[in-house]
Formats: sequence, structure tokens, C-alpha cells
Amino acid sequence: MVYRLLFVCLGNICRSPAAENIMNHLIKEANLEKQIICDSAGTSSYHIGAAPDRRMKSAALIRGIEFRGRARQFNWFDFKQFDLILAMDQENHQNILALDTEGVYKNKVRLICEFMTQHHEKQIPDPYYGSRVEFDKVIDLLLDACGGLLEEIRRNHLYL
Ligand code: 4NP
Repeated sequence: MVYRLLFVCLGNICRSPAAENIMNHLIKEANLEKQIICDSAGTSSYHIGAAPDRRMKSAALIRGIEFRGRARQFNWFDFKQFDLILAMDQENHQNILALDTEGVYKNKVRLICEFMTQHHEKQIPDPYYGSRVEFDKVIDLLLDACGGLLEEIRRNHLYL
């Protein structure tokens, strides 16, 4: 059985591509590429088709994490396609849930910060208008959250 993860932010050029590619990096290290699949999307249409933000890419590359993928917008079919949808902040979380008008998929939608074990932040802050410090902070928080998420998936969702 394959477990499918979708990471979601506003633009799909900073936080959610970072989360997707950090998670893929950890999945590769754990040899779980056949068991867990990742994608990312934005709640907005602002950057559809765009490559990830170069500031986000360079903050990740210093930690040995390369980026793949182009921006796309979250859509209703994603509720069916993915097992777990991980929002970066409260606004993304609410905007995703607003598309699930019947409340059928609400248990699939979580805040990624719930999986952190080393940090106490409740959201991944939007770094778009920030400096290098903000982009580095996103990487720190996502490394923590993705590590916790991987452990949770191993414990509860993989039948190895
Ligand atoms: P992201 O960052 O949601 O982490 O991809 C942003 C990217 C673009 C904008 C805002 C946040 N924007 O306003 O264009």
C-alpha cells in the first residue's frame, strides 16, 4: 500500500515545495520511496506553473536538499487522491476545509506543525517578504515536522 501526502501553502513556491522536497529527502534516506509519495500545491492561483522561489531553494540546498516540481493550485480532487493533506498555516488550513463543503474529508486535513517534536510554533510563517533568516527558519521547522511526520507514518500507516 502506498501512502500519499500533499503539502499545501498559499503560493506553492516557498513552504510547501520545501516541505515536499524535505520529506522526499527523508523518505529516500529511510528507503521508503516505494511506500510514501509526496506532492505539493497552493491554495492560490498566483504562481501556477512557476518554479520554486530561488531564496527557498538556496536555503534548502545548503542543507543538501534539492528541489523538484512546479507550482499548481489545490483542487477538490486532491481530497480523493491523497491520504493526508498538510497545511502550512491556519489560513491555508481554513481555505482547504472551505472547499470540503460536506465535511467528508476533514479528517485528512492537518496542520504540519502538529508533527514537530523540537519546536513549539503553531504555523510555518510565510517567508515571502522576509530575509534569509525567515527562509532558514522555514527549513528548520520543516525538518522537525517532516521527521515527526515520517515517524508517525511508519508507526501507524505502513505495513512493512
Ligand atoms: P508560499 O509563499 O505560500 O510559502 O509559497 C508565498 C508565495 C507567494 C506569495 C505569498 C506567499 N504571494 O503573495 O505572491
